[in-house]
Amino acid sequence: MARITASVFTSHVPAIGAAIDLGKTTEPYWQPLFAGYEPSKQWMRENTPDVIFLVFNDHATAFSLDMIPTFAIGTAAAYTPADEGWGPRPVPVVQGHPELAAHIAQSVIQQDFDLTIVNKMDVDHGLTVPLSLMCGQPLAWPCRVIPFAVNVVQYPVPSGQRCFNLGRAIRHAVQTFDEDLNVHIWGTGGMSHQLQGPRAGLINKAFDQNFMDELIANPAAAARIPHIDYVREAGSEGIELVMWLIARGAMCDVANPAHGVHVRHRFYHVPASNTAVGHLILEGQ
Ligand code: DHB
Ligand code: FE
Repeated sequence: MARITASVFTSHVPAIGAAIDLGKTTEPYWQPLFAGYEPSKQWMRENTPDVIFLVFNDHATAFSLDMIPTFAIGTAAAYTPADEGWGPRPVPVVQGHPELAAHIAQSVIQQDFDLTIVNKMDVDHGLTVPLSLMCGQPLAWPCRVIPFAVNVVQYPVPSGQRCFNLGRAIRHAVQTFDEDLNVHIWGTGGMSHQLQGPRAGLINKAFDQNFMDELIANPAAAARIPHIDYVREAGSEGIELVMWLIARGAMCDVANPAHGVHVRHRFYHVPASNTAVGHLILEGQ
């Protein structure tokens, strides 16, 4: 049986990818940020899963505004890093897991969540920056990755509650896959940031820290946060945080709702470009 044993939560600021690719990680601006991910890279080396189910958002890169799936699961064998205007990042091609992805698609759709099936997709900074933060600069990523894209760019976007429930359905799907696989689920994007308009540059440390507290200890309450609260408190791009609820939902044991998670690592840093960077590693108990 496959099982989800741990979850990782992290922001995906594109400038972090550029800092890694251009060898700037020890510069004074970036050093404190990358120091916060050193324990995470160590943990990844010691706890490398077979598969990462990576919840991320595409930034009008693979999906233009011509076609906007709410939830899209990658069933391909491989995914090429996207060209977002400056050439593709110099990072490895992402190797998928078509068999597990197809099984999850089957199970989750039968649990009444409508997914778009994606057989070809280039992956942007939303997916590659979290991998770089957790894995450094390897010649090949250390495991397979199933990309799971969520629309948080063009309204209407899914509610936190729907994302949380979807996470629980993903857990069930993984647990009904026959092969013995160790799966991690990642929730990415956030934390507070607003990239345009009069409030550009908005950071709300109190909201971010409270969100992490609730996500850990009371995820059902975090799931009830309405869109307007994210946008008002965490900025227009703060809405990316609903993706964290998918990963947290997948850490909930339906048969034992009281069971908790173990906080392996927690980190928060401002600034990184225009964004507050939040990061958690939660292990199953
Ligand atoms: C920034 C953050 C994002 O999440 C993003 O997708 C693009 C830019 C930023 O802070 O610069
Ligand atoms: Fe983003």
